[in-house]
Amino acid sequence: MTTVGVLRETAAGERRVALTPDGASRLEKQNLRVLVETGAGEQAWFDDAAYTAAGAAAATRDQVYAESDVLLCVSPPADTGSLQEGQALLALRIDPGLARQLADAKITAVSLDLLPRTLSRAQAMDALTSQANVAGYKAVLVAAAAYAGYLPMLMTAAGTTRPAQVLVIGAGVAGLQSIATARRLGAMVTGYDVRQAAVADIASTGAAVLELPGPAGTGEGGYARRLTADETAAQQRSLSAAIGRFDIVITTAQVPGRRPPLLVSAEAMDALRPGTVVVDLAASEHGGNVAGSQPDATVVTPKGVTIIGAGNLAATVPQAASTAYSRNICALLGHLIRDEAFTVDLADEIQAGVVVTHDGQVVHPQVRATLEKEEQS
Ligand SMILES: NC(=O)c1ccc[n+]([C@@H]2O[C@H](COP(=O)([O-])OP(=O)(O)OC[C@H]3O[C@@H](n4cnc5c(N)ncnc54)[C@H](O)[C@@H]3O)[C@@H](O)[C@H]2O)c1
Repeated sequence: MTTVGVLRETAAGERRVALTPDGASRLEKQNLRVLVETGAGEQAWFDDAAYTAAGAAAATRDQVYAESDVLLCVSPPADTGSLQEGQALLALRIDPGLARQLADAKITAVSLDLLPRTLSRAQAMDALTSQANVAGYKAVLVAAAAYAGYLPMLMTAAGTTRPAQVLVIGAGVAGLQSIATARRLGAMVTGYDVRQAAVADIASTGAAVLELPGPAGTGEGGYARRLTADETAAQQRSLSAAIGRFDIVITTAQVPGRRPPLLVSAEAMDALRPGTVVVDLAASEHGGNVAGSQPDATVVTPKGVTIIGAGNLAATVPQAASTAYSRNICALLGHLIRDEAFTVDLADEIQAGVVVTHDGQVVHPQVRATLEKEEQS
């Protein structure tokens, strides 16, 4: 019988769990044995008893490592050295360096972020989308909490307040969810994106569209392309001229495989009024969309603009985020497990997308190319 193990997350601030009790019960029904590390779900308010009631067994971390065929995580665990030859690890963002180590240790690594997103049969497995939705929602709540005014227009005996003006930059999955959430809270919302298709998406939410001059930025696979240095400079200048009227700015712009583009430059920050709140969902140690943003930190500029660097907001809505991730995992496992056994089939389009290492090799072409480039330089 195949055993699926759920590890407690090890990353700082990570409150999600890869499998919920509902997910455990789904896997049990497929004749899989589910082992859950004690306390794995507690930060997301899924207690050990709920897993046991769903048919899973509670176990120590050592037992989970020793007895599982497949290990489930949100982020790769800190102690990957505990994995054993022949095991499979499913997680988000298995980077090329770790892939090399896992290949050497003969672990099969499956990275959910590499899922081909345009395949309709893979949509239920799309963890980037499910987690971006959560992050986009929470970005608005974080902004609203830091903002010194109301988001909606309120008419009270003490007078009428004007609604907050919210600008969402980057209208992909997270951005569209931010737009929808800010509109539900009653703000006046404007969206902006370089992709032409995103303009129609913004308009369909009822939000206003910020149109800036410049060439279309649509790249491959429905993603944005990396703009040239001149295009980026022009975009920054246009944004600087347009940004001053907004009370809240939420940025979500990413370009696959690249550092996030800097969109709100120091000049644009200067155009913002005191009290403005900027939430940068792209904030990372490699930089973000906003000049001066820092990952997992809130900075108030001397001018009184609050910059919230929020690279992992999905982890702060752990119950909803884990529930969605767990469903993604169950859908993907449904595809990876055949006749009750974990089966790698690289001829399958979905598997070829997500399986990074197998049989001692880095099998994912993109990851292999990145490693070869690194090894040559
Ligand atoms: N099942 C599906 O077909 C499916 C699922 C998920 C996403 N998608 C599509 O994939 C695409 C990317 O979605 P995502 O949310 O993962 O994107 P993402 O996280 O890569 O980027 C977020 C947004 O930032 C925008 N952006 C990048 N550079 C920018 C710049 N310089 N200025 C302004 N905006 C910039 C992108 O266009 C994108 O809309 C979208 O077209 C989305 O609809 C399709």
